[in-house]
Amino acid sequence: MSHSNTAAWLTAAKAPLSVGPAPYPTLKPDTIIVRNKAVAINPADWAMQERGQSLFPGMTFPCRLGCDLAGEVVEVGSEVTRFKPGDRVLGFPWGMAGGDDAKAFQEYAVVSEYFASLIPDEMAFEDAAVIPLGLVSASNGLFGEQFLALEHPSIPAKPTGKSLLIWGGSTSVGCNAIQLAVAAGYEVITTCSPKNFAYMKKLGAQQAFDYASPTIVQDLIAAFKGKTMAGAYSIAGVVMPTDGSGNRLAASNAACEACMEVVAQSSGAKFVSSAQPVPEKKPEGVDAKFVIGPMKDKPFVFEKFLQEALAKGVFIPAPEALVVGTGLESVQLAMDTQKKGVSAKKIVVTL
Ligand SMILES: NC(=O)c1ccc[n+]([C@@H]2O[C@H](COP(=O)([O-])OP(=O)(O)OC[C@H]3O[C@@H](n4cnc5c(N)ncnc54)[C@H](OP(=O)(O)O)[C@@H]3O)[C@@H](O)[C@H]2O)c1
Repeated sequence: MSHSNTAAWLTAAKAPLSVGPAPYPTLKPDTIIVRNKAVAINPADWAMQERGQSLFPGMTFPCRLGCDLAGEVVEVGSEVTRFKPGDRVLGFPWGMAGGDDAKAFQEYAVVSEYFASLIPDEMAFEDAAVIPLGLVSASNGLFGEQFLALEHPSIPAKPTGKSLLIWGGSTSVGCNAIQLAVAAGYEVITTCSPKNFAYMKKLGAQQAFDYASPTIVQDLIAAFKGKTMAGAYSIAGVVMPTDGSGNRLAASNAACEACMEVVAQSSGAKFVSSAQPVPEKKPEGVDAKFVIGPMKDKPFVFEKFLQEALAKGVFIPAPEALVVGTGLESVQLAMDTQKKGVSAKKIVVTL
């Protein structure tokens, strides 16, 4: 099958996105081609635009961007068993499926079968699009063997008797991490602004604390007293700084420092997964690692858990979508909006 395709192109670092023709994606045996109906924005998108090769040395121009999509399957590869044309799906289009063909900000994108899930009939594409990268990043930090290596989620959840700190529960990654950890049988204690406390509890967190409180570390240590910690996932933070020649600089990461202090002074696992680079100095006996991915070692996430969890309503798209425009021309505005800062919201464009 051959269609025309249109993409939002980044022609150089710092250039605004420009919408124009793009090659129609190449279908490989283990991939699907999706006609995108909604895409969502992540901090990495505007960081790539703003910082280009100084932050992402492998980038070449012109290029396409975008990690979150939802839409309709138009073609399936010869080895695909879970999808057929016409299916409504969400997906994490990532380079392993075909370079720039596997980017969200275009009309048609290729997605590995492995990183896609069916969505329920009643779920809007703009809601489904909030999930993919947040889910992948949450899964990497929670279940990756070299990270927290937690038990896997199941329906219903099997209680482990352990408790987990998720710092930054109202971030996009955090909203997915809370729900995954609860489904994996962990009690979750999180941090966010007080206006988001109720939302954190709706997603399954047992308690929420204000990260801006001067007593936050002591408050968390008190909250974990008498419990066995499974470790912590530190999520809030800044985009990684680099020097003029593109070398990554050690970032100050107050959230990770706070998490390390809490696990150091509590019972249980002394490990922190961090969505940002970790400080060099760590308390005695505590380890922390910067989460990198995606890792193709978790078939349970999109294939086994998410699809059923969405269908049964035990996992909801979170944070809530905030649709800022329609059409690829709106993606630049959407990236600018995400960059200004969001609170428990995912910026989405419908197509
Ligand atoms: N390593 C990886 O694989 C990976 C993957 C994805 C993202 N990331 C990184 O992870 C971070 C989060 O990304 P995202 O898309 O999830 O973020 P996001 O949704 O844009 O984050 C916005 C949220 O950050 C919260 N926040 C801000 N400062 C905080 C602090 N000091 N402590 C706790 N929460 C704070 C705000 O909470 P309130 O509104 O409640 O105050 C707000 O809801 C970014 O730095 C991103 O680059 C890393």
